[in-house]
Amino acid sequence: MWNKIHLKLSFTIFSLFIGILILLSIVLNLIFTNFLSSKVHDEANELAAHLSTMLEEQGNSAEQMADFTGVQMYILSSQGRFIESKTSDASIYPNYIWDNRKLLEGKKVEREFTFNNELYLLHGIPVTTNPTVKGIYVISSLENMKDSIQTIRNLLFITGFGALLLALGCIFFLSKRLSNPLLKIESATRQIAKGELNLEIPVETKDEIGSLSQAINDLAKELKQYRDNRSEFFANVSHELKTPITYMEGYADILAKDLVENDEEKKKYLQIISEEARRLNVIINDLFELSKMEEGKIDLKLMSVEPTSIIQRSIDKVQLKAQEKDLTIRSKLSPVPHIFVDSNRLEQIILNLLDNAIRYTAEGYIQVSLTSELEGVVISICDTGPGISTEELPNIFERFYRVEKSRSRAYGGTGLGLSIVQSLVLQQGGTIHVESKIGEGTRFKVMFPSITSSSLKSHSFKI
Ligand SMILES: Nc1ncnc2c1ncn2[C@@H]1O[C@H](COP(=O)(O)OP(=O)(O)OP(=O)(O)O)[C@@H](O)[C@H]1O
Ligand SMILES: [Mg+2]
Repeated sequence: MWNKIHLKLSFTIFSLFIGILILLSIVLNLIFTNFLSSKVHDEANELAAHLSTMLEEQGNSAEQMADFTGVQMYILSSQGRFIESKTSDASIYPNYIWDNRKLLEGKKVEREFTFNNELYLLHGIPVTTNPTVKGIYVISSLENMKDSIQTIRNLLFITGFGALLLALGCIFFLSKRLSNPLLKIESATRQIAKGELNLEIPVETKDEIGSLSQAINDLAKELKQYRDNRSEFFANVSHELKTPITYMEGYADILAKDLVENDEEKKKYLQIISEEARRLNVIINDLFELSKMEEGKIDLKLMSVEPTSIIQRSIDKVQLKAQEKDLTIRSKLSPVPHIFVDSNRLEQIILNLLDNAIRYTAEGYIQVSLTSELEGVVISICDTGPGISTEELPNIFERFYRVEKSRSRAYGGTGLGLSIVQSLVLQQGGTIHVESKIGEGTRFKVMFPSITSSSLKSHSFKI
């Protein structure tokens, strides 16, 4: 039960509130008590001083005045005895309240005392001008002050208690208001976890809870996209695997049933089966490679590499294929600084791009260039092929994406080459860009940062 956030919050704020309230009450009580007490003391002191002056100047009228103001006045003779009067009898009070010695020495006396359960204030004022009278004592009751303090305390208690109740209600209500959306978010998240990815949490506020709801909505969207992509990926994979298998099955069936007319036809079918088996092997290898790359498991043997020889070797490898299509490969390889890559993976990247250029170009030439630019070493592979439209261009690095679906089967592509190329380039710290114009050709530009003495140090640190 105590694991509820609104209860924890209420309890914390409430404890804090009680603490502040108690402190405030103590301070207020002290302020009021001190204020009242000093006010009463001052008044009594003033009255006592006034009475002593009256006594010196007008004699008996001081006694009437004391009677009138509700205080008792006692006159101390120069012998240290009380001078008897009709209105007051000093002997009713206990002896310890008086301080005749101090008064006789000409010093003021001021003290509070309790008598018959009532609080009194005693003031002693020395009299100097009268030879028989040495001083007067004035006793005033502090019961009124006590009552006022009690009233203030009662008021403080009642208002404090009221504020406490009000705060309790408000805190509970506010905490509930705060925790309710969290509970809603929790149940929505559980539903999302169960696979209800179309669910959207309403974003009602612009505070942290609002942004949490938005973040969960974004997560759900992302998950949905991932799920859709995955289903599309599996559909693509099974389709791509099914096609060569269907070919192989069909031709193998014909051969098994001996439905061929001559040896030449038999050879042709066997060739198709072998070609499709090879294709199947390539697809499986590509998929395996892609999944390894996505998990970040590919082993890159990064080292300082001089790219010219690797590019030249790649061109040599595809030269025959180009010649078969009457395409020329022109190369302009300027001397460039070393780059920090895996040489086999660099060759794989260039071979893939050259393979595309040859595959999709019907006539013309392929231009390979290597230059050193400000941002690094740039390898550019340009062809005079059909080009790719601006709408299709952003998609060509996606897995299984082929510009012309029906035609690309004739070219033998699966649409995995460029996604492998992109992953390899990015994982080696490079970038890849493509420019294309329909009917004119396509240019792929791969850039790797060149090694300077300082970057070499940081590279060797990473390894
Ligand atoms: N140089 C190019 N000229 C014209 N279109 C291209 C070029 N390179 C790639 N494309 C288009 O981009 C698509 C994706 O290329 P990608 O290399 O990823 O796949 P693929 O060549 O079809 O198959 P794979 O390389 O896996 O055998 C191709 O199907 C093709 O339509
Ligand atoms: Mg390709």
